[in-house]
Amino acid sequence: MTNPNRDALIARLPKAELHLHIEGSLEPEMLFALAERNGVAIPFASVEAVRAAYSFSNLQDFLDIYYQGMSVLLREQDFYDLTWAYLERAGADNVRHVEIFFDPQGHTDRGVAFETVLSGIERALYDGEARLGISFRLIMCFLRHLSEAEAEATLNQALPHLNRIHGVGLDSSELGHPPAKFARVFARARGLGLHVTAHAGEEGPPAYVHEAIHDLHVERIDHGNRALEDPDLVHHLARDQMTLTVCPLSNLRLCVIREIADSPVKRMLDLGLKVTINSDDPAYFGGYVGANFRAVADALDLSAKEIVTLARNSFTGSFLTAEEQAPHLAAIAEAAR
Ligand code: HPA
Ligand code: ZN
Repeated sequence: MTNPNRDALIARLPKAELHLHIEGSLEPEMLFALAERNGVAIPFASVEAVRAAYSFSNLQDFLDIYYQGMSVLLREQDFYDLTWAYLERAGADNVRHVEIFFDPQGHTDRGVAFETVLSGIERALYDGEARLGISFRLIMCFLRHLSEAEAEATLNQALPHLNRIHGVGLDSSELGHPPAKFARVFARARGLGLHVTAHAGEEGPPAYVHEAIHDLHVERIDHGNRALEDPDLVHHLARDQMTLTVCPLSNLRLCVIREIADSPVKRMLDLGLKVTINSDDPAYFGGYVGANFRAVADALDLSAKEIVTLARNSFTGSFLTAEEQAPHLAAIAEAAR
């Protein structure tokens, strides 16, 4: 049930977002505006028709539309506008730090230069830091439905820009594309000093979470829902305090769960797992971080203490140093009093 005190607590707590695909923040209005600005044809007659098409029965259904949506992103300014719009929305939810994913292969394969994508996103991130006070890290994802050789080529393209990219991730179609397929490229990324994370256990089995840990040596698991099916894995995740970036509204819209009340967030908290709340692809799944927090807090009747834990986890699970985390944790303690 909606609880005004709980919603007020969620609103005033400083939060970090650790699982956000910047291309998934492309709202239908901007899709139309960019299609017109760039002369790109899109198969929708109106914003309403776009929203009506956002009805998915699984991850692949969504990805087909997600990659189609990206076709309007061509120029540096497009990537800037996309990222800036996200940062304004995140700031309104009191998100103080973001670690955002981008999918270079979704753009370079269409002839958009790596540098164009990176520069537009990065320029907005620096503006967000200066004008909105939101710090950032940038994570480059490999598309797992493509080959490891293609991921290697993408990492090669990133080499001249390694001071501008903080980590690598793994996304796109999960089933049939286990993490181990990318063991070599992840080892190389780690050797280059990059942070590493991977989507696992969204649709894929617990074995994929196990592989992400043991073959890719990830620092976080993105989603991780299906880890709960394996008690040994749960024990390992709890013992090592592995961060899980759960995305409740995404889970609902991609039919990973039937209703928000089935979200694993409360079970994960009860098991001592380090769970965080994130929006994944908010333009497609119906809400940004604040909406995701409110949805699970209401459906699972989370206590104030649990909500504060989720906010704390978002910073302690981030790639910020302990020193950088400290002021945020102090601000959470202040907001929780
Ligand atoms: N899962 C996998 N790949 C993705 C997603 C997701 O939720 N969003 C964008 N790419
Ligand atoms: Zn994701």
